[in-house]
Amino acid sequence: MTAVWASGLRKRYKRRQAVDGVSFTVGRGEVLGLLGPNGAGKTTVIKMLLGLVQPDAGEVLLLGRRGTQARERVGYLPELFRYQPWLTAAEVLRLHVRLAGAHIPDDEQRETLGLVGLADRAGDRVGGFSKGMQQRLGLAVALVARPELVVLDEPTSALDPIGRADVRDLLLALRDRQVAVLLNSHLIGEVERVCDRVVILDQGRIAAEGTLAELLGQRELRLRLDDVTAAAEDRLGGFTRDQDAYVVPIPDLDVVPELVADLVKLGVRVHAVEPGRITLEERLLEVIRGGEGR
Ligand SMILES: Nc1ncnc2c1ncn2[C@@H]1O[C@H](COP(=O)(O)OP(=O)(O)OP(=O)(O)O)[C@@H](O)[C@H]1O
Ligand SMILES: [Mg+2]
Repeated sequence: MTAVWASGLRKRYKRRQAVDGVSFTVGRGEVLGLLGPNGAGKTTVIKMLLGLVQPDAGEVLLLGRRGTQARERVGYLPELFRYQPWLTAAEVLRLHVRLAGAHIPDDEQRETLGLVGLADRAGDRVGGFSKGMQQRLGLAVALVARPELVVLDEPTSALDPIGRADVRDLLLALRDRQVAVLLNSHLIGEVERVCDRVVILDQGRIAAEGTLAELLGQRELRLRLDDVTAAAEDRLGGFTRDQDAYVVPIPDLDVVPELVADLVKLGVRVHAVEPGRITLEERLLEVIRGGEGR
């Protein structure tokens, strides 16, 4: 069963077509990245999935159910949020557990605060939290009721690099537990590290989508070599030349040590070994700029 099934979503605000026929799925245990420039329609898509914005057309199933029937099994971190400043972090969590109709013991709620690095701030009022701490609390709220689907609208925009790495680990742990994650972020490096698949929105439409491998192409290795013999060229396999570099397609970086050792054995002098494949950021810019002037 897919966690998210969205088909033909459309939404118009006055004269602006915010979302213009968007269809995609998110599988269980899959992390899907939703990318695109400001105003592309990402947040509107997310809100339509969750029943917070009424679509003009299209259908949504969450965890196989229509409407808001699956709501208690879905965790959501909104793009813009503000928690009651007079509540403590622990109280905010307790409130949301109640709102979700869930029964999560206090010690498990505290564990969730620990997961987002707020264990020692449980009793502090949210009004005194820094921006990043509020975002961490938002993540805890999204995760506390043990959802099967987590929808995160910019979860790391305010986080420091360590916080981002923590969230990355958290998302990977969720995936291991077969939780589905829909992640919208402008931090493309993050998306590239955690997402299995990416949907790129532009002007309300899907401009590109696919697995990272599909979007970024094959990995390759650029080698700067001297004294390359015929035998060494055989070992390089289906290489091409680009200026003074040998460009070799590889399945992954695990093959590098052996390849280099073999080349050295064959008498080759290895000056440089650079892994290459276009980054997600480069691909995103290509897709968006390619679509400009539409
Ligand atoms: N409540 C609203 N009323 C009018 N227009 C809206 C509303 N919400 C969104 N829009 C418009 O819909 C378009 C898409 O907005 P949306 O918030 O979905 O973009 P986004 O991709 O999430 O952008 P960002 O990266 O800046 O968060 C924008 O042109 C925006 O102005
Ligand atoms: Mg947005």
